[in-house]
Amino acid sequence: MLNYVTTNPGKVREAEDYLDAVTAVDFDYPELQSSTLEPIGAHGARTAYRAIDAPVIVDDAGLFIEGLDGFPGPYSSFVESTLGVERVSEIARRADATRASFRCVIAYCDGESFDATPEPIDQGRRGDDLAVADRATAATDETVDAAGLPVKLFTGVMPGRIVEPRGDGGFGYDPIFEHDGKTLAELETAEKNAISHRGRALAKFAEWFDSR
Ligand code: IMP
Repeated sequence: MLNYVTTNPGKVREAEDYLDAVTAVDFDYPELQSSTLEPIGAHGARTAYRAIDAPVIVDDAGLFIEGLDGFPGPYSSFVESTLGVERVSEIARRADATRASFRCVIAYCDGESFDATPEPIDQGRRGDDLAVADRATAATDETVDAAGLPVKLFTGVMPGRIVEPRGDGGFGYDPIFEHDGKTLAELETAEKNAISHRGRALAKFAEWFDSR
């Protein structure tokens, strides 16, 4: 049984299209401060694995607006709950900076080692994550131990542009993110999965996990 660590029911709905035996686990792990998603996901997977002692995936995602230097990026969650998605849309459109992408990193940890593969990355990233973890937190025994666990990372990216909010489906920034003429909030879950950052990352993960 695979534990999908998230407090977001929208993510679980999307993951169920790819993974048969997935259980949602409501575990709110503390996020690292980092300018990229990979170390945040890896740290979350290690922390969650240590907490529940069973195979876990965590999913860290963010909206990166090109003309705003990647804002809100890893701070997407904070910005959604403070500014709100309508104001993010307004800021991007006023600045004439609507090109954007969604990124998703799925991080898997089951306490065991994996064979290194060129893609998705594991071994190369482990050092980065350890370095970020050490900078971001006091190096307690727990941090050092948790940071040493192997994690496998799977990434997915979807290009698009920021528009005025449209559509009732999805969650988060979906109403203001348009891909191929429709916002993600105007798509059914299966349609979103077929093109989305999360769908791409989950497909890579599911293929690897099946062969494991
Ligand atoms: P997190 O990965 O749960 O930390 O999400 C970061 C932020 O991005 C939150 O504000 C989410 O609502 C938003 N987000 C994550 N995935 C998606 C998505 O697929 N569509 C729209 N917003 C998303």
